[in-house]
Amino acid sequence: MKLAPSILSADRKMLQKEVSQIEPYSDIIHVDIMDGKFVPPVTFSPSEIKKVKSGLPKDIHLMVKHPMRDGYIEKFVDSGGKIVSIHIECDDNIDECINLIKKLGAKASIAVKPDTPLEAVFPYLNGLDMVLIMSVYPGYSGQKFIPEVLKKIRKLRKMKPRLDIEIDGGINPKTIKKAVDAGANVIVAASAIFNNQDRVKAIKELREAIC
Ligand code: DX5
Ligand code: ZN
Repeated sequence: MKLAPSILSADRKMLQKEVSQIEPYSDIIHVDIMDGKFVPPVTFSPSEIKKVKSGLPKDIHLMVKHPMRDGYIEKFVDSGGKIVSIHIECDDNIDECINLIKKLGAKASIAVKPDTPLEAVFPYLNGLDMVLIMSVYPGYSGQKFIPEVLKKIRKLRKMKPRLDIEIDGGINPKTIKKAVDAGANVIVAASAIFNNQDRVKAIKELREAIC
């Protein structure tokens, strides 16, 4: 199990400090990018993310309408992105996006909203390093976990025993075990970590909850 804290809920005025603090207890840094079109909010700029230094891989979750046409893939790989997820529901050509992510040397992943059937990613599965199953609707941290998505994870895990399957949204010490039992091995958490005064203790509680 790899734990991927999402800096969406971190204190934006001191992102470097937040990342340095959680780094020894984490495996991946999850970075939520929103364009104000695919979802209403707008989040981090490429330069803001480039400035954040970390020994951990940056996992870029692109909740944007045009990840390729509008340059998001290139800019965020340049900002240190080692894994890039585009949404299957975006408006660019999925094959072209995946090819570009790989050409730039990053790992390619497709994200799926809770109401999109898993089958939508099947045509691309063999070329992917990861699939991101969303367990809340994209846009905001702090939403309630949607348990119905666990079915998708179980199905995908059966099909692809070694694929990285990331779950994102509503993860807390109660839901994390369900996600891991279903077959997710990359676990994103924003509010469960950064809404706590003691981030390190919150991470330890998440890890202990799956033992
Ligand atoms: C939602 C983002 C998530 C979010 C998770 O659109 O993709 O990564 O930060 O937040 P929590 O863990 O609070 O549900
Ligand atoms: Zn995310």
